Amino acid sequence: MGNYGCSDGLLTFVLQNLLSISCFSVVCGHLCNLVKMDCCFMFRKTSQAIEGDAGEHRVKIFSYNELRKATHDFSGANKIGEGGFGSVFRGILRDGTPVAVKVLSATSRQGVREFLTELTAISDIKHENLVTLVGCCAEGSHRILVYNYLENNSISQTLLGTRCSGIQFDWKTRVKIAVGVARGITFLHEEIRPPIIHRDIKASNILLAKDLTPKISDFGLARLLPPNATHVSTRVAGTLGYLAPEYAIRGQVTKKSDIYSFGVLLLEIVSGRCNTNTRLPYEDQFLLERTWVCYEQERLDEIIDADLGDDLDVDEACRFLKIGLLCTQDALARRPNMSSVVKMLIGEKSLSAHKITRPAMITDFADLKVSSGGQTRVQETRSSTTRSYSTTEEEPFSSSEAPTQTSI
Ligand SMILES: Nc1ncnc2c1ncn2[C@@H]1O[C@H](COP(=O)(O)OP(=O)(O)OP(=O)(O)O)[C@@H](O)[C@H]1O
Ligand SMILES: [Mg+2]
Repeated sequence: MGNYGCSDGLLTFVLQNLLSISCFSVVCGHLCNLVKMDCCFMFRKTSQAIEGDAGEHRVKIFSYNELRKATHDFSGANKIGEGGFGSVFRGILRDGTPVAVKVLSATSRQGVREFLTELTAISDIKHENLVTLVGCCAEGSHRILVYNYLENNSISQTLLGTRCSGIQFDWKTRVKIAVGVARGITFLHEEIRPPIIHRDIKASNILLAKDLTPKISDFGLARLLPPNATHVSTRVAGTLGYLAPEYAIRGQVTKKSDIYSFGVLLLEIVSGRCNTNTRLPYEDQFLLERTWVCYEQERLDEIIDADLGDDLDVDEACRFLKIGLLCTQDALARRPNMSSVVKMLIGEKSLSAHKITRPAMITDFADLKVSSGGQTRVQETRSSTTRSYSTTEEEPFSSSEAPTQTSI
């Protein structure tokens, strides 16, 4: 198991990484402030330009008042969640359309022009397995995104949560979710130019439509916001179990870090449990580690959710778990690309040509805590499983495929 322990040197390295992002964000914050006045004057013009170009760029601009009314003044009763970017409210537009209104936090302000430009790019990206951006608001200091409302919440709250939603996650449904998410990521990685590396593939970013079609949310958001240390480091800490070590430790972003996160998500979908559960005995706490151990001992079926009923196809479920392991391998070059993952999932491509090697995993940063002031501190670390960082095969994106949508 490629456990990346929390040795002092390594920890210092991670903290330095977070610190340099923080410095960059301060500089960008000042730059944004400098251009803010100019952008306020430009807003009308930019907004008109975007609306005027409706055939090409279809991003609807909402007034703050309109969204205030739609959400009953952003009332607590209408709040449906809160993430690293800000709060999300359910709202009903004047024409009766239900929407999810994401109010970006005050610390995540971006100049109006940059905000609208990035948003136009995101709103052009449409796919069955991606959440649709309906529009935005960039009035004064407000930066708000308006998305299609997805009735069935995220799989983190339904499949992996309390399971009070009443949704039956039978095997057929799980296959549909896994394949749908894989197709959505394939689209972002391989079917649009420039490609988008999501950077935050995880269960809370997989929303379910009425018919349980999975929709990936928050793609392109990394680019939308100015770099902000608090935001970034909070999200890194909150998303830890899904992060490829080379991304968490060195900030190295490649499509392979998304593929790693998808691998972890796939294990969660098949097992019906979260990637990390500290209430379990230590040896069972980390799903990826447990899956690898069971794979080596040829007991992979033990990972499958015991709640699955009659329609469970054990062979297919074990194949999915092996694909999850392929995606999370320590060596980046051994992780398959997303179109191959889709083919393997639907049985168009065999796994037999692939030797599955040990996964990469960080368990020892589980206690990394980030204070609200952006100061990172470590409350407690476990360092019993220290193993030096040793990934040898890397695939940083080439400049030709370097996405514009990846900077945090
Ligand atoms: N389009 C949507 N339709 C319905 N519910 C949504 C929608 N978008 C977000 N939500 C709800 O709001 C919650 C918070 O979303 P948000 O993206 O802000 O946080 P997160 O996904 O938990 O973390 P992160 O900020 O890292 O993405 C989601 O878990 C989901 O329950
Ligand atoms: Mg989200």
